[in-house]
Amino acid sequence: MSRRQARGEEHDNANCKGTKRYHRQPRHAAINEISETLKQLLADVFTLYLKTKGFHWHITGRHFRDYHLLLDEQAEQIFGMTDDIAERARKIGGYTLRSIGDITRHQRIKDAEDGSLLPRQMLSELRDDNARLAGFLCSAHEVCARHNDVATTSLIEGWIDQTERRNWFLTEIVSDI
Ligand SMILES: [Fe+2]
Repeated sequence: MSRRQARGEEHDNANCKGTKRYHRQPRHAAINEISETLKQLLADVFTLYLKTKGFHWHITGRHFRDYHLLLDEQAEQIFGMTDDIAERARKIGGYTLRSIGDITRHQRIKDAEDGSLLPRQMLSELRDDNARLAGFLCSAHEVCARHNDVATTSLIEGWIDQTERRNWFLTEIVSDI
């Protein structure tokens, strides 16, 4: 055993600290931290997906067609994140969400319960939710980067860009309603 192994540094994480270590799994604490972070992220993404889809179904008004189509496009993009988030957790040896109850226990973004929202309120809420999601993605990126989980950090970078784009569109629209 090397001195570094004896100090516990040899397994200091993840998969990409040199080719020799490439096939090593992240250590237990890293798996738990990344999986928990991804679980919360997945719960938020499912919540935002259903909220965006719900507003797509229920929005009304003069610009109905534009809003309806934009929200469908955004919902599809949000849903597109879900499988990758869950499978990243499994690929590193962790677990992910199993039920609607699990989503409820982990979500930080709030559900849309109010059936009387006007278009401006719906779009403002989604703008703010996307801004929060971008923040959560940045935090998740920090966790994954700390554990050298390069593949997850790379995916997250793309999702941050998509989320900022959704936020940009919603911000522009809301400023003119
Ligand atoms: Fe639809």
